[in-house]
Amino acid sequence: MTSDSSGGKKVPVKEITPEEWEKVDQIIAAHKDKSGSLIPVLQQVQEVCGFLPEEVQLRVAEGLNMHPSHVFGVTTFYSFFTLVPRGRNIVRLCMGTACYVQGNNKMLGKLKQKMGIDVDETSDDLRYSLETVRCLGACGLAPVMVINQDTHGLLEIDKAMEVIGEYE
Ligand code: FES
Repeated sequence: MTSDSSGGKKVPVKEITPEEWEKVDQIIAAHKDKSGSLIPVLQQVQEVCGFLPEEVQLRVAEGLNMHPSHVFGVTTFYSFFTLVPRGRNIVRLCMGTACYVQGNNKMLGKLKQKMGIDVDETSDDLRYSLETVRCLGACGLAPVMVINQDTHGLLEIDKAMEVIGEYE
């Protein structure tokens, strides 16, 4: 199922499981009376849930005895927090000049087609999120694509499609 509530972007629906709620509560309890604990709590909670939906932020606010607007302010300020579900595999395609002219302009279209999503979207099965970046500092390997922590350079389209398929 897909909702369309993030600025027109395709956003998959992911419910927080009872096990995840239990872990969220444990994280909150472990930091309850410590000052400066909001960011570490949010980081750990995001690791558990994969993202920080509104109901989770409200639980954190209540648990740490903070106003929800304070929590929302932090989660929207820092780019390492995500408020929508992201894929198990984050695919970043370099669109810097070297990579663009070496084929990543065409590669982007192929990737969108294969994953069935646009840039900054996540597939319904949460397998992939697709992003573009400006120069990864590896221009000698252009065209470059990074999947999670792995850099794949000198890619041709067929090889790239094969590589993508290796990430479950
Ligand atoms: S332009 Fe792609 S790594 Fe520099």
